[in-house]
Amino acid sequence: MFGGGRGNVRQQTLEDIAENIRERKFKRIVVMAGAGISTPSGIPDFRTPGSGLYDNLQQYNLPYAEAIFEINYFHHNPNPFFALAKELYPGNYQPNLTHYFIRLLHDKGQLLRMYTQNIDGLERMAGIPPKMLVEAHGTFATATCTVCRQNYKGEELRNDIMEGTIPKCPTCKGIIKPDIVFFGEELPQQFFTYLTDFPIADLLIVMGTSLEVEPFASLAGAVRGSVSRLLINRDLVGPFAWGSQRHNDVAELGDVVSGVKKLVELLGWKQELEVLMNVGGERVMEK
Ligand code: OAD
Repeated sequence: MFGGGRGNVRQQTLEDIAENIRERKFKRIVVMAGAGISTPSGIPDFRTPGSGLYDNLQQYNLPYAEAIFEINYFHHNPNPFFALAKELYPGNYQPNLTHYFIRLLHDKGQLLRMYTQNIDGLERMAGIPPKMLVEAHGTFATATCTVCRQNYKGEELRNDIMEGTIPKCPTCKGIIKPDIVFFGEELPQQFFTYLTDFPIADLLIVMGTSLEVEPFASLAGAVRGSVSRLLINRDLVGPFAWGSQRHNDVAELGDVVSGVKKLVELLGWKQELEVLMNVGGERVMEK
């Protein structure tokens, strides 16, 4: 009725987003990811009822599920965390199509940064260079003595963790903790890269996260209002669920691998992605 008015702006679609990526109009893409991108690799997420980790910690007799990642509880009893670390330690699982899709965005020079909450290391395994990653909740790649703050490589802890022994600092005998960010700890300095990344992003892709944990969740609101946001997730989360969707918010609901496959088909990148996955798969096997 009122031609050109804000109310008449057409709702964007996955096809629109694909066209803009394909034509390289989107060249500074920021990805925000969570545990849902790794469930297709066999790693449980946290909050999905039934299969999520927080519903499956009975064996550890925790006072409440999140205690496994609470720093005060860790000082009291580190055993549950190290049991989980043994399971999650890099090497047990392999990246899936979702991780390789982000790697392909990088290879094409269109990824500005990937912000991940995951601690499984699958982004690095898929060949996304560490400088392109903000591992907001830390990594098993490095570790720190909880007493004298001596730094260690994650590999130096591998044997102890795999044998079920709590790793201790050779210098002061303090417990060495992988550099995973616990509730009650500060996020790594690199998290603040968002202050320069988000204002210049031209597309935000949010995938496999409930956007329940701050401050990470708020990043979804840190792009300019004119910037398209694409959610690929089983359910609507964060600003996509609040009902005041922007015309340039697009939600592709369902399994993340199916959603990414649909986008890849629209982009015409299927073959390239397959090649990347085959090469990556072989490299993983060779390790
Ligand atoms: P959550 O378990 O909270 O959310 C995972 C989201 O991914 C949910 O919305 C699921 O529906 C969705 N999902 C799972 N599998 C999927 C699939 N195959 N396809 C599509 N969607 C799928 O995990 P996060 O958001 O990552 O913190 O949790 C955030 C933080 O909470 C974690 O980093 C962790 C935890 O406490 C720390 O470890 C410090």
